[in-house]
Amino acid sequence: MRVRYVIISVLLICFIISFSLSIYFYLKALNNNARLTDGKPIQSPAYHFILIPEEMDNPYWHLVEEGAKAAGAKIDAAIEYKGPVQTNMEEHIDAIDTAIAAKVDGIITQGTPNPKMTAVINAAIQKGIPVITIDSDDPNSRRVAYIGTNNFKAGYQAGKALVKATHGKAEVGVVTGNFDSANEKQRVAGFKKAISEAPDVHIVDVEESHITRVRAAEETYNMLIKYPKINAFFGTSALDGTGISAIVEQLARKKDTYIMAFDTLKDTQALIKKGNIDATVSQEPYQMGYKSVMMLLDILKGKQVKPLNYTDSKILHASDLPISTKDAEVKKK
Ligand code: BGC
Repeated sequence: MRVRYVIISVLLICFIISFSLSIYFYLKALNNNARLTDGKPIQSPAYHFILIPEEMDNPYWHLVEEGAKAAGAKIDAAIEYKGPVQTNMEEHIDAIDTAIAAKVDGIITQGTPNPKMTAVINAAIQKGIPVITIDSDDPNSRRVAYIGTNNFKAGYQAGKALVKATHGKAEVGVVTGNFDSANEKQRVAGFKKAISEAPDVHIVDVEESHITRVRAAEETYNMLIKYPKINAFFGTSALDGTGISAIVEQLARKKDTYIMAFDTLKDTQALIKKGNIDATVSQEPYQMGYKSVMMLLDILKGKQVKPLNYTDSKILHASDLPISTKDAEVKKK
């Protein structure tokens, strides 16, 4: 009897406590909400765009993100930044698929002419969601436009500059981001075209860094051990130059090794200033992000847009640095 009485009392106390807590948190939530909204209903942004990079936590893609978010803030568009943690085609395609299911107002994605990527881009268009490719194109798809570097031209520029700096005599090791990426392939093709015009410049080897600095360093090391005659490198994606430079310095080969990098990330600029990297090909990732958001708005408003929109690429040396990683062109407008 006594035991029963104790159990009932305990249960009753528990009930009273949890009931009071529920009331307390309910009132607190109401209060917070009132403070957040300040009595007015929360306004959701006018547009929801998604930016799908090749790799989320890559400093190059963070510049694209920054540009896109700056434009988004101007036009009241929420910019969701979502994609593979590390470069991965399947995950990239899944991210586009998920964006379609979420019925976003527009998709900005790195493109590549992979049949599955083409199909998912076409599926978005079919559902009335405009798609812009940036940085790398998928011209086989029905994407509305491409904004980014003319990658063949950029590779060609790199080749010409390397030929000039090495006085037309070089044995070159190429470290490229991914063999499958359209932009990387075009850069290598442009580079090959430029050096085909110089009989004493040859490519000794081309290896893949999976767009990481560590793999770029590893591949550089392997190349230099296997082919000690290499006296020039071309790194075709944003972190390759710094990886190459680390090994060239470690093996004390800097004096007789020319390095052409890609992009103008802070570390690359610092190494050019130090004399460890000789030159780099600049791109405009911030512009790509900014312009793609503005273009999505134009498309949604029914304006005609150009399908091919090349941003600038240049060869930069120490005397051209430092350069801002963003704004130049946006400010001119
Ligand atoms: C390329 C991007 C790539 C990045 C990797 C850039 O040069 O344009 O496609 O994702 O390098 O770091």
